[in-house]
This record gives sequence, structure tokens and C-alpha cells, in this order.
Amino acid sequence: MCGIVGYVGARPVLSILLDGLKKLEYRGYDSAGIVVLGRDLSLFKKQGKISLLESQISHSQVDGHAGIGHTRWATHGVPNDINAHPHLDCTGKLAVVHNGIIENYMELKTALIQKGHVFKSDTDTEVIPHLIEEELLNKDDLLKAVLGSISLLRGSFALAIIHKDFPEKIVCARRESPLVLGIGNGENFLASDIPALLPYTKKIIVLDNDEVALIEKTTVSIFDVQGKRIHRSPQTVDWDARMIEKGGFEHFMLKEIHEQPNVIKDTMEGHLDLAYNKVLLPEGPEDSLLQHLEAIYITACGTAYHAGLYGKYLIEALTGVPTEVEIGSEFRYRERMFKDKSLGIVISQSGETADTLAAMRRMKAEGIPVFAITNVASSSVARESDWVFHTKAGPEVAVASTKAYTAQLLSLALFALRLKGAREGSEDLRAKALVQELQRLPILAETTFNLEGKIQAYANRLRYLTDYFMLGRGLDYVTAMEGALKLKEISYVHCEAYPAGELKHGPLALITSGKQVCLLATQRQLLPKIHSNLKEVKARGAEVLILRFSDSEEMEADETFILPATSDYLSPLLAIIPLQLFAYYMAKEKGCDIDQPRNLAKSVTVE
Ligand code: G6P
Repeated sequence: MCGIVGYVGARPVLSILLDGLKKLEYRGYDSAGIVVLGRDLSLFKKQGKISLLESQISHSQVDGHAGIGHTRWATHGVPNDINAHPHLDCTGKLAVVHNGIIENYMELKTALIQKGHVFKSDTDTEVIPHLIEEELLNKDDLLKAVLGSISLLRGSFALAIIHKDFPEKIVCARRESPLVLGIGNGENFLASDIPALLPYTKKIIVLDNDEVALIEKTTVSIFDVQGKRIHRSPQTVDWDARMIEKGGFEHFMLKEIHEQPNVIKDTMEGHLDLAYNKVLLPEGPEDSLLQHLEAIYITACGTAYHAGLYGKYLIEALTGVPTEVEIGSEFRYRERMFKDKSLGIVISQSGETADTLAAMRRMKAEGIPVFAITNVASSSVARESDWVFHTKAGPEVAVASTKAYTAQLLSLALFALRLKGAREGSEDLRAKALVQELQRLPILAETTFNLEGKIQAYANRLRYLTDYFMLGRGLDYVTAMEGALKLKEISYVHCEAYPAGELKHGPLALITSGKQVCLLATQRQLLPKIHSNLKEVKARGAEVLILRFSDSEEMEADETFILPATSDYLSPLLAIIPLQLFAYYMAKEKGCDIDQPRNLAKSVTVE
């Protein structure tokens, strides 16, 4: 949560920082602030979106060659101008921006107040500038003062610090919250995430936990917590600045929904061996491990958790290997036993979600090797896992995940087929047919967009909607859960996803005349059951939307969306598209802030 940026160089600092913050706005958007270091510190802070901060500073003439900025997602202290970062020390010479949570801030604050420090905000962050101020009483070096201060902090942080007496320098530090350094020519950058750097450089250095960096115009020096120098060469990222533009779409979310056919193609590329109808996954675990697996444990959060459910259904259906899937925040704390010959699968778009990372570290501590599926090659999940599969979704900007989800589904389909191949050889006809079908997926996904006009009209008709039900069986239940999450996240319509077989055990009590229900009907073997569910809800006066394949029998519904026919196993990759579009157009009908829904952030790096 929260985004931080920093710049040292000769370009106009204000506009570089504002531009960087806009690229990171998905990380938090309740307030923002910037400080530029020239002859003095020029500080600007504003509650609300970055555009408000931008208009506040539009007439300011600020000179300087270094600055830091912050976009906030409040944890301690309500969103207002005072609680917005940067925060200053008592002298007004030192400014700090912070992403994370300082767990021992109350005890530090009490001690600092006793020493005479004056606090202005309700944030945990504000202890940091005062701690560094204290350290500077005995040290004449900003880097050393930061090292001394962070040794007193408990919790998580990515920090950037500037001081009037140390011109053209930024000191930054990291523990658990992400921080990336961007290496330029005579200028250097820092940011919470790569998109903020892309317009300026593709050369990055990822800061590791408990590392501190000193950023100057022409040098970037990294140190461990003892102050010992660490040498690390920059890596080049394969994303480019165009990928983080809206490209003619009104919202990033709509653009990202439309990118899915290409994302499927790119993620699949090089992984299908069509001559032998099998999947190649050289970046995954080797045969010897896969052949003897007795259990698979999948962990993830949010949308990635729904992808994990797909993984479970598919792996168990194709290979019979018992597979559990558990939300990161549950997995990390639950008392339980694990099987010996097991594999962990961790799914995370950002690769930085705090609960997912903690769950992954628990797996590793239990001796379970971990295969990670992530969209960010330089992320913590990628670096700490035993094997990494990189989804090729490109940067995802909208808070509600769409294209990263389909890329995760595809990765799990590839993994399930690879697992089957390793255990049973590649002669299985069902597996061969699936490999063939995978090839057709990008084009089928493209065809799904023929429904867009119809979906838009459906959303318009339901524009006063407050409650919705998405029901399905088997893999359709997985899609219902993800579809319901999309609708809740961005249109704020309350939506229940239920396994259709559970209707009679509760939710049927809510189905009355005029209630809106979407019934997913893509699992061919379960269609007779879905038919009965349709009758049940119709008999109680519900209006029903059916989502089915073009080759299945017509059902008597109030609305039908027809998907191009594919394998039942691959249905979630297509069926989610109309539900994403429905959530999008419903949010648009309701005038919601689609790319940045209320109270949410894209990258949840705190617990
Ligand atoms: C947040 C985002 C979701 C995302 C989840 C997990 O809740 O808003 O879109 O699915 O985090 O994120 P990850 O980066 O680990 O996939």
C-alpha cells in the first residue's frame, strides 16, 4: 500500500515526482505529498487524489535537484492534509516518506515526546524523522543516522529521506515493503514499483530487506544494516512505458480486460510442444519431484486466490494429486500438519502481498519447496521461491485485477498438464486435446468480446441494482466467485457467489420476485443440475442471466450470454471476460471510480 518516489538529477523535480506518483496512484489514493530539496525544503501535502495536489502546486516555482513524494493509503490516522506524507522532524530540515507499518511507534513516540520532540500527525511514520533527528545529534552523516534509526524500528517499511544539510542526496531503506532503484544517466530514481520508473529508465536495482541505499546524481550505493557496502549490478526490465498508458481506452481496467487474448498468447508462448502435444515448463519443478508428489498446497490472496481454486480443481481432475488452496492470511497462522512429499504453489500478481509472502515463508520453513506464479520478475515472491513462472500480463494498473487473473489461470493449466505429463507420460488423450485447445484460446477470448454491446445494455437495464447472485457448479463456481469479487470491488453492488448446489441450504431464502441471478452453465456434465437450479430460482420470481457455451442446449432465461465453445476445463478463462465487462459497465452506470475503487489498493504490502 502507499507509493513512494524519489529523484536526484537535473530535470524539473516537481513534475518528475508528480508523474511518478500518478503511475503509483493504484497503491493508495487518499492523500499525497511531495517535498523538494533546494535551498530550503518546499513541502506540499493534500488530502485526496494526486490531481488535487497537482493543482495546489501548479503555480509554484520550485528549484531543486532532489525530492521525494508519497501517495497514501491510510493505516494510522485518517486521511487529511496533516497525516499526508512527507513528515518532518522538529528542525524542519528533514523529510521522510514511508510505506509500511511501524509496529512499535507508540513506545518510540512516548520516548521521543519525553525528549522534547513535538508531533503534528496521528501517523506511525512521524516517529521516523524524529528518530533520525535524534541520531543526527551524535552523528554528522545522514546515512549513519538512518542506519541507527531503522535498527530501532519494528514492523515494515520502505523509506525515503532527504535533509537540507545533505543536498542532492536521498537515503532510502527497506524492510518487507518493496523499493526499486532506477538507474539513469546523471540522474537516479527510486520508487515502490517499476511503472513509476519506466518513462525514464529500464535499468533497475531491487533493494532487499534490511538494505539501505544512498542515491546521488551519478551514484547509487547500497549497504547492509551494519553499513557494509553491497555490490549489485542493475537488471533490465522488459516492460516499456507504453504499457502503462490507457491506449485510447477510457479506463485502465477496460484496456486490461481487452488485453487478455494477447496476455494468454504471450504467457503460453514457448510452453506448448505441439509435435508431442505436451506442455514444457522448464522454469518449474523437475520430473523427479513431480512424480512423487503426495500433496500440493496453494496459497494466495484476493483474485489470485480464485486462480488458486481453479488450480486445485484442475490439478485434482487431471492428476489426482490432492491439492489444497488456502488464503494467505489463513495459511500463515493456522496450526496444521503437512505431507512430506509436497509442493507449495504461491500465486501473486505483484509478488509483494504481505500475507502471501508470509504464507510462502511458512511453507519454506516447513520444508515445502515453492513454485511461484507472479507477474513481477523482480518481486519478493519471485526472489524467495524455488522456481518462478512469470505471467506475461505486463503491468496491471487498475486496482481490480483482470488480465493478471487470466494469466494465472493459464499458468495453472500449464502446470497441471506438465504435472500430468511428468507422472503419466504424454499419451493421455484428454491431455493432448487440452494442449490443442489451449492454442485456440487467444482467438476464442477475442470472440468473447462480441458480447460487449449486449453486456453494456444489460448493465444499463440493471443500473439500479443493489444485490446480485452468481451461481455455478464445479469450475463455474470458481468463475462465479471471481465475477462476484469484480462486481463488489468496482461497482459496490453486493454480490453473493454460491455453489449452485448449496442454494437450498440458505441463499434461496433471499431469492424473491425481481431478484437478479446469473447462472453459469459451462460445465457440460453438470448442466442437468444447473437446469434444476434455474427452475428453482425462476419459480421464486428471479430474473436470470445464463452464461453458456455456443454448443450447449438453450435454456429458458431472461438473458443469455453465449461463449465460444471450448473445453469445460478451460471455461474459466473465457467465462470470466463477460463478468469482468459486466462489473465494468455496471460501475460506469453508477458513476464509480473504476480504476481506483474506494478503500482498496492494488498492492497490499501490509497485513
Ligand atoms: C489486492 C488487489 C487484488 C489482488 C490481491 C492480491 O487485494 O486489489 O486485485 O488480487 O491484492 O494481490 P497479488 O498482487 O498478490 O496478486
